Amino acid sequence: MIIAIDGSAASGKGTLARNLAHAFHLAHLDTGLLYRAVGLKLLSQDKSLHDEETAIEVAQSLTFQDLRDPDLRGDFAAQAASQIAIIPGVRAALLDFQRNFAKHPPQPYQGVVLDGRDIGTIILPDADFKFFVTAQLEIRSNRRVQELASRDLPADYETVYADMLARDQRDQERAIAPALPAKDAIIIDTSYLNPQEVLEIASQIILEKMKLSGQNNSIKPIL
Ligand code: C5P
Repeated sequence: MIIAIDGSAASGKGTLARNLAHAFHLAHLDTGLLYRAVGLKLLSQDKSLHDEETAIEVAQSLTFQDLRDPDLRGDFAAQAASQIAIIPGVRAALLDFQRNFAKHPPQPYQGVVLDGRDIGTIILPDADFKFFVTAQLEIRSNRRVQELASRDLPADYETVYADMLARDQRDQERAIAPALPAKDAIIIDTSYLNPQEVLEIASQIILEKMKLSGQNNSIKPIL
């Protein structure tokens, strides 16, 4: 089973991906971490985010170990990620990483959930299920402020809102792999839903689709 989830920052796509992975016993890859890791590695080597050659080398040599750095979760890494994400060679290198993961999920898993910006459109266009998760910008900004505050990090609404708007625009308007829903993706607006409700909606859609296509209907997700 291959599930592709795309969406904007703080839309709840990562939470849905984690929850679906648990519910259907699938391996999960948060592909944003790949871009964040490339951005942070460049900066830690005192390189510019516009240094395309080094960025591509870093992307080509990325390992799972690189995805464990706790600093990847911060907004600094997010902004760096969205700047190197426009480099075609970086995207090409990370495309192989992501497709490999989907083709050869780590043991004991037999399927995957990938979440990002171009999973349903570019990385896994033949995914069995595609979701595009969205929420109003004000609500996403509030969620991020709360998340930052819960980690004792500086959390100013105006700054978070402006950063998120800039990142949304950069991701949606870039020439290569813009963050847009695939034609066959199901859009879920999480603005007024909690994570459990979102999980139940997505699981229901998956089970219905499996039933309609006559696939294994003995699967019972853990909800
Ligand atoms: O999902 P996350 O917020 O961690 O992503 C950080 C940045 O990485 C995004 O703003 C986007 O620019 C880039 N990204 C991407 N394609 C993906 C995942 C992330 O371009 N599949």
